[in-house]
Amino acid sequence: MDFNSIYKLASSDMEAVNSLIQRRLQSEVVLVNQLSAYIINSGGKRLRPLLALLVARACGYKGEHHVDVAAIVEFIHTATLLHDDVVDESDLRRGKETANNVWGNQAAVLVGDFLYSRSFEMMVDVGEMRVMEILANTTNTIAEGEVLQLLNCNDADTSEARYLEVIYSKTAKLFEAACLIGAVLAGLPEEEQASIASYGTHLGTAFQLVDDILDYSASAEEMGKNIGDDLAEGKPTLPLIVALQRSSGDDATLIRKAIEEPGSEDNLASILQIISATDSLSYTREKAELEVNMAIESLACLEDNEFKTALEELARFTTSRTY
Ligand code: IPE
Ligand code: IPE
Ligand code: MG
Ligand code: MG
Repeated sequence: MDFNSIYKLASSDMEAVNSLIQRRLQSEVVLVNQLSAYIINSGGKRLRPLLALLVARACGYKGEHHVDVAAIVEFIHTATLLHDDVVDESDLRRGKETANNVWGNQAAVLVGDFLYSRSFEMMVDVGEMRVMEILANTTNTIAEGEVLQLLNCNDADTSEARYLEVIYSKTAKLFEAACLIGAVLAGLPEEEQASIASYGTHLGTAFQLVDDILDYSASAEEMGKNIGDDLAEGKPTLPLIVALQRSSGDDATLIRKAIEEPGSEDNLASILQIISATDSLSYTREKAELEVNMAIESLACLEDNEFKTALEELARFTTSRTY
């Protein structure tokens, strides 16, 4: 099963999600419409909504709320991207200029807030306290993760453990929530809900590890984001943390300086060389693969069906993806 066949399996649900997204983007304020339509229709993978839909179906859910939840998680994801590109000073996303580049930081932050708060309205429409509880807790954790990451920025002593805490909060938590809610809606017993949530946690962790690998190794054309953004910002992601741990002398000094004083010189080429010599991308990839295996194991509690197979394949796609 490739990525397209996984999509096809959820295609009618996904159409419903997309039309709900378009409907709920509407605002009286023209700039809100323009900017939000620009980002939401710019070709994101819709991975988090896909997870919510597939999990709900894999668990035998027959209702309609999974469509609402899928749209809600995409709104939250989009809001975090708008904010993230401002904080990271990124100018390319999904192969297009970032919203902050087109409309400026202020507009991007405020429309991000619009999407966040619109998602809260949509949660209320769903009317399930447990769903609201999960999403409230999730958005709060994401915000903490982004702040924690800000603290780690320019800190060359950031440990692997602290990095893992950040990526759990900023990325894995939303994957976890998308999956957990699918299981909650389907009324799975609590123990199984926890297993499905942990599928999402492991998948999300693998996903961010691979994102951090791609930031050093992909082509901007394929990924739709600029390479070297993390380094330019002095963000200690796992490839860089491991490269520093495995270096000494001038190499170690160079990496420390790149983290502590980013932008002071053009050092991407030399850092890439150290990253390659220390095998830190392989180390990171192995970590991601372990997470993928744990994700797949967490699905064992589900009965076999095509949606479960799709979830397993989706986990494998996480580490083979190039965008
Ligand atoms: C980007 O997520 C942010 C990360 C957590 C790395 P995606 O790669 O899912 O972004 P889109 O929605 O497909 O553009
Ligand atoms: C993920 O971090 C951002 C969020 C979860 C908001 P990154 O900064 O690595 O994401 P990209 O690379 O900009 O998509
Ligand atoms: Mg970023
Ligand atoms: Mg990134």
